[in-house]
Amino acid sequence: MTTIEVNDETIRQTRELRDEFQKFLREYEFGMREVETKISILRDEFLHDHSYNPIEHVKSRLKTPDSIVEKIARKGIAEPYFEQIRQNITDIAGVRVTCSFVADVYLLFDLLTQQDDITVRAVKDYIAHPKDNGYKSLHVIIDVPVFLSTGPLLVPVEVQFRTIAMDFWASLEHKIYYKFSNQVPSHIVESLTDAAEAASELDIRMERLHREAHGVPLRQLDPPPPAPRIVQV
Ligand code: GTP
Ligand code: MG
Repeated sequence: MTTIEVNDETIRQTRELRDEFQKFLREYEFGMREVETKISILRDEFLHDHSYNPIEHVKSRLKTPDSIVEKIARKGIAEPYFEQIRQNITDIAGVRVTCSFVADVYLLFDLLTQQDDITVRAVKDYIAHPKDNGYKSLHVIIDVPVFLSTGPLLVPVEVQFRTIAMDFWASLEHKIYYKFSNQVPSHIVESLTDAAEAASELDIRMERLHREAHGVPLRQLDPPPPAPRIVQV
């Protein structure tokens, strides 16, 4: 058994590490708040200028310290200094934007990623290219500047855009995987994939209904699907 002597120096070092880790996490919280503000400004502007709200809800979360440590191990980050972690783990801050329709998902994605202070690190368009299980969402990792007393800092934030139907499916799928500890019986996996297809059909029907209700010309009722967003890695 290893014995560790807890002397004043060890306590000082442990406190220093704890303070640094808290500071590190706070930076992500600031980045997340910047993104939340950007999204809520877009929402308010849309509501006032176009009498239309393309966003159903926004949810943000910070990864827990346990989950960060688990990911450092999983990714095999040999020298987990804060800078290496910032480069390699890009989902410490996460914002999920649930929109009404697929067209709104792409609209919000474009409006956020085209802002001058935003740098896009990577895009995964799981709407144009769904996962095998049927999972759909548009993911982007952006760097957002945060202005601290020490100067500006670029913080990575993962933003997931999806429709209500995609969100409904993803939350239930997540719960089912949790319930079966990732060992989901094959008939349930198949049924989930079918359900994802049903969710996509519902998205198409509801968007068509919405257009019809707003009196768009017949030829615009079923517009072609949006072009996939460029995948940069
Ligand atoms: P992680 O290491 O889990 O973050 O995955 P990744 O780095 O390969 O990224 P990816 O873009 O595939 O997934 C990131 C996040 O998207 C996950 O943490 C989930 O929130 C969500 N996600 C991805 N795939 C699925 C899925 O099949 N089902 C559900 N419910 N969520 C998913
Ligand atoms: Mg993740």
